[in-house]
Formats: sequence, structure tokens, C-alpha cells
Amino acid sequence: MIINDVTKTIAARRSVRKYSPRPLRAEELETVLECGLLAPTGSNRQRWFVAAVQDPALLEEVGVLQKKVMLSMPGLPASMTEKMNAPDFSPTFGAPVLLIVCKQDGGHDIDACLLGENMVLAAESLGLGTCVLGSVTMALGNEEGKAFLRKLGVPEGYSVAFGISLGEPAEAPAATPREKKYIII
Ligand SMILES: Cc1cc2nc3c(=O)[nH]c(=O)nc-3n(C[C@H](O)[C@H](O)[C@H](O)COP(=O)(O)O)c2cc1C
Repeated sequence: MIINDVTKTIAARRSVRKYSPRPLRAEELETVLECGLLAPTGSNRQRWFVAAVQDPALLEEVGVLQKKVMLSMPGLPASMTEKMNAPDFSPTFGAPVLLIVCKQDGGHDIDACLLGENMVLAAESLGLGTCVLGSVTMALGNEEGKAFLRKLGVPEGYSVAFGISLGEPAEAPAATPREKKYIII
């Protein structure tokens, strides 16, 4: 692989599941969000919306919604039940920011995905950690979740594609393996 700043950043990214509580500086958050908006979209329609949640009370609310949905799932493994009921449970693993990436109804999932990956890599380049969170899609996918989105100011007609935790990492996870068999040249 050719090594440069971009490929180094891509190779260094890991899903981070432990964070320092340090709030993000405004310029860090703005840089991550603006890099998201630089992603390509079909016909440049930009059918996406991102809510950056930092208020601890709102993060807690996401946690409550997540617990409600997860704990009502039939056959949830005991280990998950234990995690959800832990006193220190946090929907962002303690990260001070949750990015809620939404897509417009009828829009492409891929637009939101590309925006998300831009933000993840921008965060890595700033020394910040992230984890893409499908759990947030589940937590905010019902009527209560939609009401929460409206409360944040996400317009009608958008639903959650995924969440991303964002903050200063408090762990340095090892790389997870990748299979070269999934590419041909
Ligand atoms: C669509 C999607 C949903 C994910 N949802 C979760 C999640 O809910 N919780 C979690 O801890 N990690 C989640 N992840 C992170 C993956 O587990 C992680 O990317 C994968 O194990 C590879 O590890 P790496 O990101 O460190 O390379 C998700 C990743 C993607 C792309």
C-alpha cells in the first residue's frame, strides 16, 4: 500500500468503545461535521441530516430509549441484558458526542454512509475516536425515537441511518482482521 497522510489515517482508524469525558472543542466538532458534508451524494441532492448531540440529558434520553427497545427484544442474550442494565451504561460508551446521521425518506442510504465515513476519518485525523452505532438506529426507529428526533430539530421526513460516537479515545484497540479474498483485480 502507498503510505501517505490519508492512507495512514484510514489504516489507523478503529472502533473505539471507551472515551475520556473531555468535551470536544467547537472547532473539532465543526471540522468533523464539515468534512461529512464534503462527501459525494447522488446528483448532489444532499438528502442527509446530522444531529450532533452533546447535552448529557439528551444523551441519557437516547440511552433510555435504547434500553427500552433492546430489553423488549425476545431472545436478547443475557450478556446484552447485563450490559443494558449496568449502572454506567452509555449509548456512546461514554463519548461526549453522539452524531445521529439521518437520511431523507426515499433518499439513498449510501449518501448517509459516505458522509458518516468522511466524519469518522476526519475524527481519526484529529486524534479523536469514533464507533459507528447500528444500536442507535434501533433505539430511535420507533414513534418515540421519531419524537426525539423532532425535539432535536431534525425535520420531518428524515429517519436515522446510524449513530456515531465521537470523543477523545480512552483505549487503543487492536486492528480487526480483514479478508483480501473480497477483492479481485
Ligand atoms: C453498520 C454498522 C453498525 C455498527 N453497529 C455497532 C454497534 O451498534 N455497536 C458497536 O459496538 N459497534 C458497531 N459497529 C462497529 C463494528 O463492530 C466494527 O466496525 C467492526 O467490528 C470492525 O472493527 P473496526 O471498526 O475497529 O475496524 C457497527 C459498524 C457498522 C458499519
